[in-house]
Formats: sequence, structure tokens, C-alpha cells
Amino acid sequence: MGKGSGYGKVIMLGEHFVVHGVPGVVSAIDASTDAEVKKSTKLNIRDERKTSKGYGEEKRLQQIESIERMLTAMQLEPNLPLDIWIGGSLPGFSGLGASAASSVAIARAISEELGLNLPNEKINAVAYEGEKAYAGNPSGIDNTAATYGGLMWFKKNTTNNQDFVEKLYLKRPVEIVIGSTGKTANTKLMVEGVAERKKKNPQKYEPLFKQAENLVVAGRKALEDGDLKKVGALMNENHHILQELGVSSKELDLLVDMARKQGAFGAKLTGGGGGGCMVALTPGKEVQGKVASAFKTAGYEFLATKISVQF
Ligand code: PMV
Repeated sequence: MGKGSGYGKVIMLGEHFVVHGVPGVVSAIDASTDAEVKKSTKLNIRDERKTSKGYGEEKRLQQIESIERMLTAMQLEPNLPLDIWIGGSLPGFSGLGASAASSVAIARAISEELGLNLPNEKINAVAYEGEKAYAGNPSGIDNTAATYGGLMWFKKNTTNNQDFVEKLYLKRPVEIVIGSTGKTANTKLMVEGVAERKKKNPQKYEPLFKQAENLVVAGRKALEDGDLKKVGALMNENHHILQELGVSSKELDLLVDMARKQGAFGAKLTGGGGGGCMVALTPGKEVQGKVASAFKTAGYEFLATKISVQF
């Protein structure tokens, strides 16, 4: 039997814009998806992840397409019969890179089961192919974080596959709270919607892309300088332009508001939006605890974790 894992992630700055070549800041989180793969006589997927309502059904066909794409990228038969188990500590909530984490985990498990010995670079490239089933035109930020872990600066190369990736190191890991709306979102539709709106109305959207670029650059500097108040303010600005982009939702705005009222330095949706998750910057145990208990009291699931943990 082959085994593999992939990290979950949280995008701190730049989602959606990152698909179009704007840089993004992403951190892996200390929750991962695990996979086990065994050669079999037919394809059988046992998905035992904890998920938000409807996640399994919504993603089922995309999951099968993703596995076929990954097998093809490994120069294998797309219908290769395999027994696949998926589990681990990362919940299947939209926005946490659960699809990329599972693609990386499955790619690693296939590589081990078939003795392919694929290096990380190849696992990442294979998982990127798998991500296309879930996101249509993914930036690659999710599979890169899922493969390598840590905090990173990511810039997609929109003309070839040579993305620019740089690990970032902070003085200490910083507490965050990730809140889940409980709503499963379709990343592919969200990404397509942004591309369509941008094409139809460049006068409205192009300035937002410029603003996103400036704020991600400033956010990286503030993070590295340890100026967390500034990082929080930039996350708030980022949420605002994601609202303008049309990818937020009533529940996301509500959780973002709730976190800010409890003392979060900043809060924004994270990932594809349209449901899924938000992230609040909550340095120190006290603020983190306040935000987490507000979410708990209001009946929302959450993860209280840290960014920039080196695994
Ligand atoms: O919702 P998630 O976890 O699949 O994250 C999507 C992030 C996007 O920037 C919207 C898409 C991408 O490929 O970068």
C-alpha cells in the first residue's frame, strides 16, 4: 500500500487576483489530508474526511476527473483501477485548499504504491493537473502550499509553468482563526465568474487588480517587519476588493465583521469565496480565544491555528 499527505492552506492575501499573475501570500496550516492507495480491480474511493454539508456530493465528479488527470500526468492509464482511501485532520471545507491537499496526498500515495519515486517538484506538477478539475484555471498556489508547507510568496507565471515561489520566515508563528460558513462553494465557477466580469468590464476591474498587487507587496513587507496591525489593515482592504470582485457572501461578511468586533487585527474571506471560509488575524492567545468563542457561540465551525509554522 502507498501512503501520502498534503497540507491544508490559508491564503492571507491575494486569492483570485493570483490566478491573473498578481502575487499572493499563503501559509500551510497544521492540518493535512492523508491518502492510502492500493492496486485493485476497479476504481474505488473511500472518502472519510470531515466535510461541510454537501461537499462530498458537490465534488464527487471533480474528484474522479482529478484522479484521471493526475494518472495521465504521471504517464499512467487514466482508468487505472485503484483502491483509494482519503482521510486526515484537514476538514473538507471550501477555501482551505482541501482539493489540492487531497491531490498531493493521492499523488504521493500513487507514487509510493507504484514505486515511481516522484520528487516533490513532480508531485506538485501532477497535483496542479488534478487541481484543474476543481478550479478550471488554477493559479497553482494551493498545490504548491500543499506540497511544500510553510509560509510563502507565490506568483504565477501566466506564460509558462515556471511560477515564482519564495519561502517567507517570520520571527514567530502568528495566531489566526479560520471560520467556516458551512457552505460548500464551487471554486471553478467562482474563478470563471471573475474572469468573465473582468473581461466584460475592464474599467471597473483593472484598478482592483492594481490595488491588489500593491496591497500584497505591502502585506509581505509588513509581515516580515512584524507590523501585524498593518497586515490586519491590509487584510481588511483585501476583503473589501474581494467584495467588489463579487466573490464574498452574506455569511462571509458576517463572520469577518464578528471577528473584527472581537479584536481581530484584520479579517477577510480566504480561498474561492461564495461560501467556504474566512480568516482572521488574531495575534496572541487572548484575541484568538475571543474570536474563536464568538464563532462557537454563533454556531460556526472554526480552526484556531497559526501561520508560518515550519513543519
Ligand atoms: O477555495 P480554494 O481553497 O480552492 O482556493 C481557491 C483560490 C483561488 O485563488 C480562488 C483560485 C486559485 O487557483 O488560486
